[in-house]
Amino acid sequence: MSVKKLEELRERKEKIQAGGGEKRIAGQHEKGKLTARERINLLFDEGSFVELDAFVKHRCVNFGMDKVESPGEGVVTGYGQVDGRLVYAYAQDFTVVGGSLGEMHAKKICKVQDMALKMGAPIVGLNDSGGARIQEGVDALSGYGHIFYRNTISSGVIPQITAIMGPCAGGAVYSPALTDFVFMVDKTSQMFITGPQVIKTVTGEEVSAEALGGAMTHNRTSGVAHFMAANDEACLMEIRRLIGFLPSNNQENAPVYETANDINRIIPELDEIVPENPNKPYDMKNIITAIADDADFLEVQPYYAPNMITGFIRINGQSVGVIANQPKVLAGCLDINASDKAGRFIRTCDCFNIPVLNLVDVPGFLPGTSQEYGGIIRHGAKMLYAYSEATVPKITLIIRKAYGGAYIGMCNKELGADIVLAWPSAEIAVMGPEGAANIIFRKEISDSDSPQETRVELIDNYKREFATPYKAAERGFVDDVIEPSATRPRLVDALNMLASKRETRPPKKHGNLPV
Ligand code: HXC
Repeated sequence: MSVKKLEELRERKEKIQAGGGEKRIAGQHEKGKLTARERINLLFDEGSFVELDAFVKHRCVNFGMDKVESPGEGVVTGYGQVDGRLVYAYAQDFTVVGGSLGEMHAKKICKVQDMALKMGAPIVGLNDSGGARIQEGVDALSGYGHIFYRNTISSGVIPQITAIMGPCAGGAVYSPALTDFVFMVDKTSQMFITGPQVIKTVTGEEVSAEALGGAMTHNRTSGVAHFMAANDEACLMEIRRLIGFLPSNNQENAPVYETANDINRIIPELDEIVPENPNKPYDMKNIITAIADDADFLEVQPYYAPNMITGFIRINGQSVGVIANQPKVLAGCLDINASDKAGRFIRTCDCFNIPVLNLVDVPGFLPGTSQEYGGIIRHGAKMLYAYSEATVPKITLIIRKAYGGAYIGMCNKELGADIVLAWPSAEIAVMGPEGAANIIFRKEISDSDSPQETRVELIDNYKREFATPYKAAERGFVDDVIEPSATRPRLVDALNMLASKRETRPPKKHGNLPV
């Protein structure tokens, strides 16, 4: 090999590595953002990333594009390892034509999407782009179409994770929305279908880009995003952490991590955690972290519908998806957003063979016209559907209230819970004592000489009779009533017992989820 040829190769590669050049890289840093290559290096185990298609060029000649160089075509693509496991990625390079997506840029992304699917490995997309490359017209739109199609075909087969690390406008937001998890970086990322200027022109409404589509907007208000990170580095570290809870594909289980935790750990504080007064709230997250290995809880969508908690823990090293009511917020009621959040998370766990653990303290569905007009029936049905459809091991632990439809909605025996445990504080009934007394004892109370006393007495009777786990246990709807302190060994035992669970469904094209 002549030295000249090697030199030429090195020169070409150096030019590509330099992206849009020093000035644009400095501009990226000034905005508090890392470059595509810096992000890729942080995402992968050191030195493990292998770049593909670095030499790809666009072939657009419109509007002077024939004179525009686009090193790497504005996107770095390839594969590498995260904690020693194969992962594919693409990172859009904002320093090259604003990371805009044209025909060849899209082809690079599609190639790694195809490889990730074929090899059964997760794919991570790091988005930082001005959207469809305007000069490429319909070729750019076609590129997006190819990406959306692959996102959909890969859904439920390999984990797909997206991070929004810059602007993400127009139809470009739909690839992230089709993936399993969306991260956003606070203050430097935005997602919207139509930007502030278009909104002002069309509707007259004035809104900043941050308020319209910033990280907090999509984490708290719209529910489009699942995680918010303070900066690029924190975002990439959280993506690595999330991958650790997921299998590489739908035919594998999530990796089991060694834990120094005693699997038979008794947790005495759990015996005291539920207040005597059933109307007093407590923090469900304390229960979750108490039973998790190393108190490690990766909460998914912490800002959205906080009356419902979703996230990953490990028990005895095994990844478990937790769906829990939060008595601290709206008394843990189910509402539209909580149902959507839980339904989606249950389906994510089911796709990826992650057992689900349901921690129940739910007084019912949130009443009111806004909920009814908003379609709580349709949204609540998604939870029922997701639980019934799920074939992964399903464990339900009733901690306190489990009333009415919400008792079923949080995965009771009939929705397929394999093991239902209850603490002695559990109350399982059609409705709470006060509401029930007003209906079934109405006549007795109104006919009584001292209605107030009669009411209190009848409510007490109801509580003794129904506000316990024992009626349900007598029918076998609850498999066992356990001491709270012994929860962890019981969960370890249940997970071990359910490890070989096989459940099949009648063949069909696909079900008709009430979307
Ligand atoms: C071509 C683009 C581009 C685009 C940015 N650039 N967006 N080139 N097509 N879509 C170029 C700019 O010309 C500039 O080139 C460089 O990238 C950096 O952009 P700036 O504007 O200087 O950066 P900044 O001020 O940070 O603003 C970033 C921005 C803005 C907010 C993203 O560029 C912008 O509004 N771009 C257009 C966004 C948009 O409307 N996209 C189309 C969405 S519709 P130079 O050479 O000057 O450095 C869509 C349809 C998808 O995506 C449909 C899918 C079905």
